[in-house]
Amino acid sequence: MSAELQPSKLGTKEHWDHVYAEELTNFEEIGHEGEIWFGEESVEKMVGWSLEHAAPSLNPAVLEVGSGNGTLLFALAEAGYDQKLLLGIDYSGDAVKLAVNIAATRNAAEVTFSICDFLTDDPLLLPGMQSNDTPGAWDLILDKGTYDAIALGQKDGDGQSPATRYPGRLTRLLKTGGIFLITSCNFTEDELKSNFITEETGLIYHSRIQHPTFSFGGRSGSIVSSVAFQKPL
Ligand SMILES: C[S@@+](CC[C@H](N)C(=O)[O-])C[C@H]1O[C@@H](n2cnc3c(N)ncnc32)[C@H](O)[C@@H]1O
Repeated sequence: MSAELQPSKLGTKEHWDHVYAEELTNFEEIGHEGEIWFGEESVEKMVGWSLEHAAPSLNPAVLEVGSGNGTLLFALAEAGYDQKLLLGIDYSGDAVKLAVNIAATRNAAEVTFSICDFLTDDPLLLPGMQSNDTPGAWDLILDKGTYDAIALGQKDGDGQSPATRYPGRLTRLLKTGGIFLITSCNFTEDELKSNFITEETGLIYHSRIQHPTFSFGGRSGSIVSSVAFQKPL
């Protein structure tokens, strides 16, 4: 895997449990929905990309990996996606509680949120989804900041980051022809490509989102990268 990162607390479940316990209390006490990772603009861009490439009229089944407070899925619901086909999974129980509580205040109570560790468990299937007994049931899988967090987890005995397990787990959940859109702040577009387009996954490059760029000290780049990959037909 390119761009090996040093483990940090952002890669631990304890950290996220602590973050969402606090955010849940804040929501209950003062109605704050919590942090929007990478800002409103990244949400708008991911929704805009989805409208173009996996339109609501096609009734795509959409999974968000590490859905946190649910902001991205609520934005998709507002943009016209069928709430009954939207699932957010997160390994932090309080993140799921927070998203469910926010959903109730946003007319989005039919969006499903469920506790699930993406690296070890298969997400539930929504009523009406056909699995043919395989977990590969999703037309669109989204990630905003979760692969980044997983890449900061403790390495195993062989020095492998938990992120090395992510592309394989992801690919088996995608339908044939399904698309994965990831927004990352820890990996460049090229690094995402080399981590996800591998012999193991068989994924192909689909498209990218252009984010605002900066120039500094003769170098230029984007603060976040968004790349989409497809499981070929
Ligand atoms: C940087 S936050 C992003 C949250 C959300 N996607 C957003 O944009 O607001 C990373 C999220 O990934 C979740 N997460 C990290 N590792 C996970 C795993 N193995 N399975 C499921 N969720 C995980 C964390 O609990 C947290 O909600």
